[in-house]
Amino acid sequence: MCGIVGYIGSKQAQPILISCLEKLEYRGYDSCGVAIDSDGIEVYKDAVRVKALGEASPRFKGTTGIGHTRWATHGPPSQINAHPHLDCNGNIAVVHNGIISNSPELKARLIKEGHTFISETDTEVIPHLIERYYKGDLKKATEAALSEIDGSYAIIVLAKDKHELIVARKDSPLIIGIGDRENFIASDVPAILDHTDRVIYLEDGDLGVVTSSGVSISRNGSGIKRAEQKILWSVEEAQKAGYEHFMLKEIHEQPKVIRNTLAEYSRETEPVLDLGKIRDTGRESIIMLASGTSYHAGMVGKYIVRELLKLPARAEIASEFSYYTSVLPRTVAIAITQSGETADTLKAMKKLREADCRVIAITNVVGSTASRIANKTIYTRAGPEISVASTKAFTAQLMALYWMAMTSSITDTRRQSALLTELRQLPGKVQQILDDETGITELAKYMSKYEHAFFIGRGINYPIALEGALKLKEISYIHAEGYAAGELKHGPFALLGEQSPVIAVVARDNTYEAMLTNIKEVKARKSPVIAIVEQGDEDIDKLVDSVITLPKVDTLFSPVLNIVALQLLAYYTAKERGCPIDYPRNLAKSVTVE
Ligand code: F6R
Repeated sequence: MCGIVGYIGSKQAQPILISCLEKLEYRGYDSCGVAIDSDGIEVYKDAVRVKALGEASPRFKGTTGIGHTRWATHGPPSQINAHPHLDCNGNIAVVHNGIISNSPELKARLIKEGHTFISETDTEVIPHLIERYYKGDLKKATEAALSEIDGSYAIIVLAKDKHELIVARKDSPLIIGIGDRENFIASDVPAILDHTDRVIYLEDGDLGVVTSSGVSISRNGSGIKRAEQKILWSVEEAQKAGYEHFMLKEIHEQPKVIRNTLAEYSRETEPVLDLGKIRDTGRESIIMLASGTSYHAGMVGKYIVRELLKLPARAEIASEFSYYTSVLPRTVAIAITQSGETADTLKAMKKLREADCRVIAITNVVGSTASRIANKTIYTRAGPEISVASTKAFTAQLMALYWMAMTSSITDTRRQSALLTELRQLPGKVQQILDDETGITELAKYMSKYEHAFFIGRGINYPIALEGALKLKEISYIHAEGYAAGELKHGPFALLGEQSPVIAVVARDNTYEAMLTNIKEVKARKSPVIAIVEQGDEDIDKLVDSVITLPKVDTLFSPVLNIVALQLLAYYTAKERGCPIDYPRNLAKSVTVE
């Protein structure tokens, strides 16, 4: 989604802004631009990559500036629609992340008043509104403009010769990085990590004035203090460290992520959240709430809670849940979101809080909006996830869910302690898969020739079939569908055949026999079958075309090993097809619009 950056200090702003924008590329974008307070406000923008923008742009002199990566919503990607946007006189420049829902009315009114618009964006109304109110006090004019705006925004306003940047947020993330006689603004931490690890997270409704020597924040006209926080992620963690892509690096980081996440939780003396007590407190059910890959983690969570705690858990797609006309009041919701900024998930969380439900967030980003909406937050320790396709964050989310369930009051304590022992062995088993990628890279060559694929799984591995298909489609552009294996015969069979390979995630649990039957049915319809199986499964070899063999593990943890194999399969297939793996077309890392 759009990324915004700002710099004010004593150094030349333009190269700093370009390098900060490069760090935000992972959020997904289609055009970009910068504005510098030079001899007047100088703007350079285009529908190109940040690197190309940096190379083509004239060198504007100036120590205050703003920059933007745009992910088109209103109007196609183009030079004109790219940010920053200007007022009529070119003295006020604005970068914006979010959506102004009443922009048509505001624009019509401003045109009547004599303002001229050149782009198709909703954002352009902001500099014009500020211009309308500007009488020398930029903060006041911005405040007045924002009071007329409906929708979501994170903005930075730059005005000629003002030596200050005005920032504001509502439903879109924005942080201020504190430097030494210089300050930075960004929509996300990785953008500024090269320069500072001290940040202030702005909250909805905050308006700030940032100069090179200070930051002052107000809400509803009164000044307030926001605590400075130290970022624990290192610069190295946010870099590729010799890997060809962030995605591969992040897949390979998973043993460490599992270890770190578990180590962190083990230090807690209390269970992170005692789900077993939920019945005692009179709460009726648990829902897992999330979007995309995080929703698949929530689906696995549903199986974990049902299996270990015998509680009636459900998983809900956040964007659907927000439109249910009723919410059961006695519900505990576990909202899972890597970024903590996904608009769909935040909206559903707010709805639950309004219905007086308890909301627990599982998120990877300290201080994110999700953590502020939730009654309680459980952090995953995945480190910054840069690749658009989520991998290590998913595994860390699973760890949080396993740990939460396994440290709850489970009656079967023998199973509990056996599972804890197995859980600690998981990093080693994931490492074994990573150390022997050759089989998977060969299969990826084979997969790369197809345009369609089905992924099937059962039970706790049904969400893994969905996630495997999502990974493949988003980065390799192969049309892939995940199905509960038993559902294939209820329709999708019509599409089976030599051109539709089926990837079967096979678990040695009570679903095994049914899965073998499903595989035979698929083979009878001539689809090639690749099976993901655990070591020692000799029966399956005879039925399928290829197997990926993984270390043995309790079925409860099999999703972790299976997904690592499927992430690698997706990665190498996409690489084989020459796709831009870390920045798939049309996708954004942090989806901050509904
Ligand atoms: C896919 C992917 C997305 C995200 C989804 C939710 O690889 O990354 O499906 O999982 O946009 O994002 P978060 O977890 O940040 O709420």
